[in-house]
Amino acid sequence: MDHDQLIDLTRRALKLARDKTTDLAPRPHTVDASDYTSMQRHLSDRALLLASPQLVGYVSELAAPGAYCTKTVMGRSILLTRTSDEVVRAFDNVCLHRQSPVVTGCGTAKRFSCPYHAWTYDNTGKLVGLPGREGFPDATVKSDSLTELPAAEFAGFLWVALDKDATLDVAAHLGPLADELDSWGIGRWSPLGEKVLDAPINWKLAVDTFAENYHFATVHRDTFATIARSNCAVFDSYGPHHRLIFPLNAILELENVPEEQWDPFHNMVVIYALFPNIVLSVTIANGELFRIYPGDEPGRSITVHQNSTPLDLSEESVAAGAQAVFEYAHATVRDEDYRLVEGLQANLMSGARDHLVFGRNEPGLQHRHITWAEALAASASVG
Ligand code: FES
Ligand SMILES: [Fe+2]
Repeated sequence: MDHDQLIDLTRRALKLARDKTTDLAPRPHTVDASDYTSMQRHLSDRALLLASPQLVGYVSELAAPGAYCTKTVMGRSILLTRTSDEVVRAFDNVCLHRQSPVVTGCGTAKRFSCPYHAWTYDNTGKLVGLPGREGFPDATVKSDSLTELPAAEFAGFLWVALDKDATLDVAAHLGPLADELDSWGIGRWSPLGEKVLDAPINWKLAVDTFAENYHFATVHRDTFATIARSNCAVFDSYGPHHRLIFPLNAILELENVPEEQWDPFHNMVVIYALFPNIVLSVTIANGELFRIYPGDEPGRSITVHQNSTPLDLSEESVAAGAQAVFEYAHATVRDEDYRLVEGLQANLMSGARDHLVFGRNEPGLQHRHITWAEALAASASVG
């Protein structure tokens, strides 16, 4: 993001903080409880994700040719590689023999030997070794391949399409946000690993926890709220995506500082909600990524939480400090946000009340649910 834009956002955030208000939607918005509980909606949501470009990680996870990483997206195991021509490729991580995952974790390797019977693949997905070949007269070494999926690196992130026949057009998907996301550089910062939350909450309820800071003063009273303002956010939408600026308490100190001396990054957290299921949280030292997936039933979801840092991790104490920050952020989401909304999910499923309401002060929440509903309506009219 360029400096002028950052200053402009800081100006808007400072005004909201000073006026003790927040960006407001025109009116409150109501959604049905069944959006979070019905099997029909659950299946539609899964189809929506399958049809959308999926951001699965940082380009820095595949830093050099020969690097590989594995990702799980709605139960699908995917292998990503960077081949000798520097290109990122993606494959179903499913052995052609009896469907074992061919490889787990991440690292550097040009060949992958399946842990079950050692069928071996190169990093272009090609089958290059098959012990006991006489057992498989129909298999063709050097010609059979793992199923390849469309893959791209764009705006600093790794993207895949889960439909092998789909066209993956991430530029069209991100629209005007692409350059802004790229400019942060968080996808090129050092990755700090993945932490997984398997939670008894609908995936949209998980996304909702990132779409407003109205809850900071209560849910995060002893954590985030000690440094960040509550019920105070700058909201902007970009087609189906949106950006929220959460000002830190220190922003009020800018009142008496000339704008030329502002260091905007010390005064805010920037949250992006990328349609349909991705949340990014950017600060001066952390590029958090939340990949949020429907689980196997409406009341369950999987969140994969990643973080990246611009710090030089070659020094042990710096690396340990970065991990501690990641653990703190993760524990807060797990023990404060997700734990609390488990109670919402139980109430929603009880049928006691058939709707819930998003206030004018929750424009991000409104935007999420309106864009999901619009996308489902559009795909229903096409299908
Ligand atoms: S399942 Fe992979 S070699 Fe048998
Ligand atoms: Fe929260």
